[in-house]
Amino acid sequence: MQFIDLLSQKDRIRASLLKRIERILDSGQFIMGPEVTELESRLAAYVGTRHCVSCSSGTDALLMPLMAKGIGPGDAVFTTPFTFVATAEVISLVGATPVFVDVSPDTFNINPDLVGHAVDQAVQQGLKPKAIIPVDLFGLPADYELLDAVASDYRLWMLEDAAQSFGGSIGGRKAGSFGLVGATSFFPAKPLGAYGDGGAIFTDDDELYALLRSIRVHGSGEDKYSNDRIGINGRLDSFQAAVLLEKLAIFEEELATRQRIAEAYSERLQGRLVVPRIPKGYRSAWAQYSVLAASTEERDHLMQALQQAGIPSMIYYKIPLHLQKAYHNLGYVAGDFPVSEDLSGRIFALPMHPYLKEEEIEQICSVLLR
Ligand SMILES: Cc1ncc(COP(=O)(O)O)c(C=O)c1O
Repeated sequence: MQFIDLLSQKDRIRASLLKRIERILDSGQFIMGPEVTELESRLAAYVGTRHCVSCSSGTDALLMPLMAKGIGPGDAVFTTPFTFVATAEVISLVGATPVFVDVSPDTFNINPDLVGHAVDQAVQQGLKPKAIIPVDLFGLPADYELLDAVASDYRLWMLEDAAQSFGGSIGGRKAGSFGLVGATSFFPAKPLGAYGDGGAIFTDDDELYALLRSIRVHGSGEDKYSNDRIGINGRLDSFQAAVLLEKLAIFEEELATRQRIAEAYSERLQGRLVVPRIPKGYRSAWAQYSVLAASTEERDHLMQALQQAGIPSMIYYKIPLHLQKAYHNLGYVAGDFPVSEDLSGRIFALPMHPYLKEEEIEQICSVLLR
């Protein structure tokens, strides 16, 4: 059994994708070809923003808005310690300081009630509070109604880390469209995955859009060889755009299947394990289906039982970022973020992809229930 099956899908898109790939081969437009422009307009229409800037990864999609807004040394950017390292890494890359805020125990997303305290702490340390990066963990959008209010109270601008939540929504409004700017990832294992690295940035802000396009190509000005600012090579290639265009065509159908699979898991596992709670009006993109065991010992025991039955499972995230060696310099200690630490000790993720069969779900659940 696969944890994420990346191969079953390919036969559905094979013929049309090969046609697109042949066109690129024959045209020689390998970088920023017409596929990239077509993809950007389709993605913007899907997410519901005025602009989309495709780029080379989800990490660059987070980095570029920080560069565009001039975030740097002395600035505090708030995010959670219960996320993939890239969320905090980009803050460090621009020279700013990540300031962590614990998550809510029910959604695993940033707890808006704790942001104010973190802002006060940052100010006491002599930092300038600038921005907040909520993460839509495992595909579930964060609580943007409360976050919008907190962000405006503290005059922070918001960068949504929608790396895992492309396709998720709140009241029909799509992930990627919250805050000033949203960033997503097309890493192959993501809900909408390329056949390589890729990412995209979404915004309604015209000025930011222009800056992001410049930063994506080495800070280019009017032409490629006039450089107005420091940028990166953050382009998406035409092959990946072609893959994403074909996958986008079947994406809603795949999301509906993910939703059915999540419901099937929850129905069977409820009462035995803590299953994901999706607030009313929210839709998760189900990048992961993660459950909580009662203790670390029980988690080890259940994961071992799954492994013996040939079923893969994973832990996202075993070490919260404030306890990672790379962030030792920030001075956090165990106990600083009790919810994230508790989740790290009990969480584990089950196989989740749109091609998971009913018998496989049955088998996974029967091992866990036994
Ligand atoms: C929450 C989160 N943020 C950022 C990223 C970075 O995306 P990428 O791997 O495309 O650089 C990921 C992907 O793994 C992620 O899960």
